[in-house]
Amino acid sequence: MNSLIKIEGLSFTYPGAQKAALSRVDLAIGQGEFVGITGPAGAGKSTLLLCINGIIPHFQEGEVVGSVRFQGVDTFETSCRDLARSIGSVFEDPEAQIVAMTVEEELAFGLENLNIPPAEMEERIAWALKMTGIESLRYRSTAQLSGGQKQRVAIAAAIALRPRVLLLDEPTSELDPVGTDEVFKVLRHLNRDLGITVVVVEQKLDVLMEHVNRLVIMDQGRVWADLPPRQVLAQPELLDEIGLCVPPVGRLAHRLRQAGLLGGELPLTVEEAFRGLAGLVGG
Ligand SMILES: Nc1ncnc2c1ncn2[C@@H]1O[C@H](COP(=O)(O)OP(=O)(O)OP(=O)(O)O)[C@@H](O)[C@H]1O
Ligand SMILES: [Mg+2]
Repeated sequence: MNSLIKIEGLSFTYPGAQKAALSRVDLAIGQGEFVGITGPAGAGKSTLLLCINGIIPHFQEGEVVGSVRFQGVDTFETSCRDLARSIGSVFEDPEAQIVAMTVEEELAFGLENLNIPPAEMEERIAWALKMTGIESLRYRSTAQLSGGQKQRVAIAAAIALRPRVLLLDEPTSELDPVGTDEVFKVLRHLNRDLGITVVVVEQKLDVLMEHVNRLVIMDQGRVWADLPPRQVLAQPELLDEIGLCVPPVGRLAHRLRQAGLLGGELPLTVEEAFRGLAGLVGG
């Protein structure tokens, strides 16, 4: 595979920490993939994203071993500014990410930094606001937005830059199920229709399984499993062993299959499970 992102033997320890936050991580991500990263608290998910966008080691000190390459170039040798031309990031805390007074200024800020001409800037701002469903917030003060609105603004600001890769760290933590679904539909569109590689850290496993092509499960700084979602469902012990819950649909499907009642592929969504069960009862 021609890797867009190639991580080899990556270990990272924060200053003064007893344990490494990342421990000998190897991971290759190809152009056009939609990768979900999950795992228990403290597994190293956020730290891994920070190594990809260059915040580590450029802005966060610590002990690094190994390498991260983006399009073949060592990110440790490349400035964050250069990396930001291709790698968009939505951080864990939207409060910390939003810098401008209004939503429109927030989106314009990154585009100005890239010297995008005004006409194109306008077009990109309008597009990003529409994609994230926040056109009505355009002239609002960022200080008055809810947590969920801030998350959408942070995503809009990142996609306005039309990155090749979009890294998102728990972008739906402040959103309800409907808002979460909307964000994932936007990510899927960016991935499928615009070819943007998406790497998203998310704790809502059911949502991840429905949308991503590949699930990277982290635990204690390591990659614990790296499989397509259906294969993860087929081995629920993989999740059990590190204290993660298999989504109810997956658990039910697994039981039915063990009982010989469900053939074919394991369903990833309620809709797929319904079709499988309807077939079972002749519905
Ligand atoms: N700035 C920091 N200084 C010191 N230790 C840190 C720092 N940030 C994270 N850590 C530690 O590094 C390890 C990995 O943290 P990280 O935030 O990457 O995990 P995570 O998987 O993103 O967790 P969460 O699900 O809670 O967001 C944890 O043990 C954490 O306590
Ligand atoms: Mg985190």
